[in-house]
Amino acid sequence: MAKRERVLSGVQPTGQATLGNFLGAFRQWRIQQEEYDSTFLIVDQHALTVEHDPAALREGTLQMAALLFAVGIDPTRSTVVVQSHVAGHAQLAWLMECTATYGELSRMIQFKDKSRGSAMVRAGLFTYPALMAADILLYQTDLVPVGEDQSQHIELTRTVATRFNHAYGDIFTIPRAVIPPLAARVMDLSHPEAKMSKSSADGQGNIYLLDSDDQIRRKIAKAKTDLFNEVLYVEDDPSRAGVRNLLEILAVLTDREPKDVASNFERYGDLKEATATAVIEQLSPIRDRYWDYMSDRSQLVSWLSIGRERASEVASQTLSRAYEAIGFLPGKEVTHGD
Ligand code: AMP
Ligand code: TRP
Repeated sequence: MAKRERVLSGVQPTGQATLGNFLGAFRQWRIQQEEYDSTFLIVDQHALTVEHDPAALREGTLQMAALLFAVGIDPTRSTVVVQSHVAGHAQLAWLMECTATYGELSRMIQFKDKSRGSAMVRAGLFTYPALMAADILLYQTDLVPVGEDQSQHIELTRTVATRFNHAYGDIFTIPRAVIPPLAARVMDLSHPEAKMSKSSADGQGNIYLLDSDDQIRRKIAKAKTDLFNEVLYVEDDPSRAGVRNLLEILAVLTDREPKDVASNFERYGDLKEATATAVIEQLSPIRDRYWDYMSDRSQLVSWLSIGRERASEVASQTLSRAYEAIGFLPGKEVTHGD
């Protein structure tokens, strides 16, 4: 039997996961786990790149695990693992920092966005893409399903992997990004020019996966539209971004094309109503399962420890090969990985 291709992706355990995370990432993960050998990381080490609260990080990590299982990531089929549980991530990250260049890291849009206006920019925010490259390469990943905002990081991963392979031997699989054709960038409902983001300040334009039905209805009812008064799907027109966003959300959830969806509506109110219904239908069972999983923490911890064991095996093999290729002297007392 041919070896199944490997899928890997990750999510930060900070803030509350949004509909953007679900449509851009989790939903693809759930589908792809059927076909691919999948690993999903809860990237707690990435969460240190901006100010954080240790207790919230610890709790957020367990909550994110519960949420992934609630979304339908199956612990018997997929490997769900906490990044800090496998030492290979941090170890390989150093090799990646010494492969990527200062110029490349300086050009990362996420770095520019997140560092803007901040007096204390953590060095880790700058080197973050090297850690992310390590995450991906450690598992010899073929496919990386992510939202559109991560494509630049994956391009960089391909660049550093190729450079490493040329310099030291063929160690890493070169991964490809998989970006969903629709809703790869779900926009903030109140500010449709900006991405819906876990870390956004007021949260009114965000749908959180754990919002109540009422909250979802209210937020969608208040979503910003425009003054055109016609339900049309127009790409690349910033003045129509609000309606386009609603149409894409509804289209993905009902498995149709946004243009066809648009033709069913004349009034914004009806479009909003239908979108809210579709979102609630999708999220309310996830919310129920989430609370079930959170009521049995030892089960969650045990699934994560199975994930850690499985992940460590692949990780330590790759790390040993990379260490050897780069010229590290093998030492008996040095244990690679876990
Ligand atoms: P993060 O919230 O940064 O940890 O992102 C986890 C995953 O969700 C990544 O694959 C992101 O690209 C994806 N994602 C986050 N926000 C959005 C959004 N507004 N639309 C689509 N995908 C998103
Ligand atoms: N940087 C990603 C984000 O903020 C999260 C992430 C970390 C990731 N490591 C990864 C995604 C590896 C895909 C593959 O969304």
